[in-house]
Amino acid sequence: MKKVCLIGCGDHAHHVYLDAMLRCRAEMEQIVFSACCDVEKERARNFAEKIHAPYFYTNYFEMVARERPDAVILVTPYHLTAKIAMDVMHAGCAVLIEKPPAEDYSSCRALADVAKETGCMNQVAFNRRHIPVIREMRRHIGNTAIQHISYHMYRIGRTESYFYSTAVHGVDLVCSMMRSPCKKGEMLYGALPGYGTGVENILMQLLFMDGGTAQLSFCPVSGCVSEGLTVTTDQGSYIAEIPIWSDQDTSRLLFSNHNGEVTQITSSDGPHMFETNGFYWQLRQFLENLLQGKKSPDDLFSVLETMRLTDCIRLRQAHYMA
Ligand SMILES: NC(=O)c1ccc[n+]([C@@H]2O[C@H](COP(=O)([O-])OP(=O)(O)OC[C@H]3O[C@@H](n4cnc5c(N)ncnc54)[C@H](O)[C@@H]3O)[C@@H](O)[C@H]2O)c1
Repeated sequence: MKKVCLIGCGDHAHHVYLDAMLRCRAEMEQIVFSACCDVEKERARNFAEKIHAPYFYTNYFEMVARERPDAVILVTPYHLTAKIAMDVMHAGCAVLIEKPPAEDYSSCRALADVAKETGCMNQVAFNRRHIPVIREMRRHIGNTAIQHISYHMYRIGRTESYFYSTAVHGVDLVCSMMRSPCKKGEMLYGALPGYGTGVENILMQLLFMDGGTAQLSFCPVSGCVSEGLTVTTDQGSYIAEIPIWSDQDTSRLLFSNHNGEVTQITSSDGPHMFETNGFYWQLRQFLENLLQGKKSPDDLFSVLETMRLTDCIRLRQAHYMA
């Protein structure tokens, strides 16, 4: 039996984690969601009721001391996440950390060092890695060499100054698919002054150590919500559309071989947003690893390159060198 608690009962916890937790609870009888915590008492009470947890708290130190959980799910505002994750690991708990795990590369590095020092199992919640079409594409690619990835993220009205904390998803998806570290990168920023200061289209071009390349475009005020990637391999190209925040499963995966013959590849964890967007599988993998005492392949060390590259966007840098 493993005891799991959650910290941060806000929007993301309600719209995503709740359903994923309920499904995992039904499927994994050795997992007990014993308590949750939010500084806003009513949110904590409400979430505890919905996940059928007997206890709720407004202070996470108190919750961890009393409940002594095996693991904690962290769904807190990203500027607080690294500090809370450190406290939780110092208390000896495994931790599932919402993205981004820290505000910048250096605080993520410090967090990874705490994970190493405490030996706590940890996983960063970059849900793109767990989306069914992405998992299926990875399975089909196997060990075949990846020549190039072209990735796009289009959004509507995303004029916030911290858009990099959403763009980090695309950087992580590309880095986690490539087989070798990034050697160098060039970034271009196309200012969109009509939409506000600092609002811009971002273009990244990356070269990896094994000769693979990637191009990523981020258009925060494009007028459409669309995200996808084409992965060119020695077998041919995989073209994936990723479902974003919708119960309508808009995901699609096509494979086109070197003769131009196209086949459609299907995959599904279920019809709901928390399933199509990879959130169910992400939680399930974390809980499986917890039960089996295994290290997560999606741990803090696996996201350090993502965080370094995302720092370039955050700081509006034009060049990246390994
Ligand atoms: N993977 C995704 O696509 C995705 C999407 C949305 C949000 N997120 C991430 O989820 C996290 C939470 O986002 P959100 O939209 O739910 O924010 P939110 O503000 O709605 O919720 C955060 C909650 O944490 C609580 N909180 C703050 N400090 C706390 C503390 N010290 N102890 C306990 N509770 C505390 C707040 O009261 C709030 O209820 C962020 O890290 C965000 O980046 C990820």
